This record gives sequence, C-alpha cells and structure tokens, in this order.
Amino acid sequence: MTQDDLKDAVAAAAITEIAPHLDRHTILGIGTGSTANCFIDRLAQLRHDFKGAVASSEASAARLRSHGIEVFELNYAGTLPFYIDGADEVNAHLQMIKGGGAALTREKIVAACAERFICIADSSKRVERLGTFPLPVEVIPMARSYVARELVKLGADPVYREGVVTDNGNQIIDCYDFNIADPVAMEARINAIVGTVTNGLFAARGADLLLLGGEQGVERLTPVGS
Ligand code: A5P
Repeated sequence: MTQDDLKDAVAAAAITEIAPHLDRHTILGIGTGSTANCFIDRLAQLRHDFKGAVASSEASAARLRSHGIEVFELNYAGTLPFYIDGADEVNAHLQMIKGGGAALTREKIVAACAERFICIADSSKRVERLGTFPLPVEVIPMARSYVARELVKLGADPVYREGVVTDNGNQIIDCYDFNIADPVAMEARINAIVGTVTNGLFAARGADLLLLGGEQGVERLTPVGS
C-alpha cells in the first residue's frame, strides 16, 4: 500500500465514523492538507446528507465548494459536532504537531469549536515524542525576529519559512531540533511570546479519536490515560 492509499483508507474510515450522525442541520469542521483532501473528496458523496462545512483554510474551502458543499463562516456555525483533520505528528495522548501546510491557526480555532476532533493519519505520523517534525509558529510579520530570538531561548533552532504567507497574512517560523518534553506547557509558553499568533502544538486540546492507517488496516485509537 502506498502512503496515498493509507490516507484514503483513513478518510473512508472517518466517513464511516461520522455518517450516522449527519442530518440536515449538521455543519462539519474540515481541516487542511493531503489527508484532509482525501476526506473532502469522499465527503462529496454525502453532500445531500448534511448542511455544510467550516473550512480551516482557503484551499479546503475551495475544494469543498468544488464538490458542491456549502462553506459557512465559523461565527455563523457556532459549535460543530466534528472536526476532521490530519497531523504532522501524533503521540499516544493524541497530542499533535500540525501546521506543515501553514494552516495551524485556523485549524486550532475550528478545532476549538468542535465537540469531537477526529485525527486521520497514516502510520508514519505516529511518534513516541513530539518534535522531530519542525514545530510551526505563526507570527505577526513585524515580530518575526523577536519571536525567533525568544524561541532560541526555549531551545529551538528557528527557521523562517521564506515565501509563505498564511491565510491570515502572517509568517511562519519552523522550530527545528526542539526538545518538547511537556507539550501542554510548551504550547502555552510559546503562545505567551508577544507577536505569536499561535503555534502548531495541539496539546491542550488534542484529538479525541485517531484513525491511523497502516498495512494491517485502520486502527481506532483513543487518548492513552483518558
Ligand atoms: C496543515 O497546516 C497541517 O496542519 C496538516 O493538517 C498537516 O500538515 C497534515 O497534512 P498532510 O495530511 O498533508 O500530511
């Protein structure tokens, strides 16, 4: 099986997970990235079974619309029953690093409004400890150098992701070689740096369910210790 096959398998599993809960009032929260794209493509077949979606990026919004799925503003939608998205890394507590596609801030906002976060990922994303994948931090442009200096004090090797402007008009710093012993504490610590919009640690609010695709099929995992 290729990685694309695994992504499609977890997308199919997520459809199975949510399908029984859809009705004409349902608005879904939808993530960003190649795995989320597989989910959006499969969601198209259910488009008459629910009301629409809130997207975590302009790219996902465009893909949803291309399938005839209506896209709503989050301020209109309120609380969402599900948020479905991929991850760059996920640990046993279903804490994640996200933002490889630079959509972390809107992803975190939409996830915050969801009753259940379903993470869909192929098995390459499952890690014992978060931090091998460079942690993205979205920053207000004028604060970039200041935030980078503060990140060095926290032990990271920050690199400006040149040429990337987020959907919010901001910039991204990627933190390499980061020793993230306590993801909840580090998420809060980085977010407290003035000029930071948010960082890609999804630890305080992790996923509720992980659908993990591997050679043996799709595993259904809940957070260890919950
Ligand atoms: C987007 O900013 C990210 O958070 C994605 O959710 C994450 O990078 C996973 O993307 P893939 O499904 O493409 O690996």
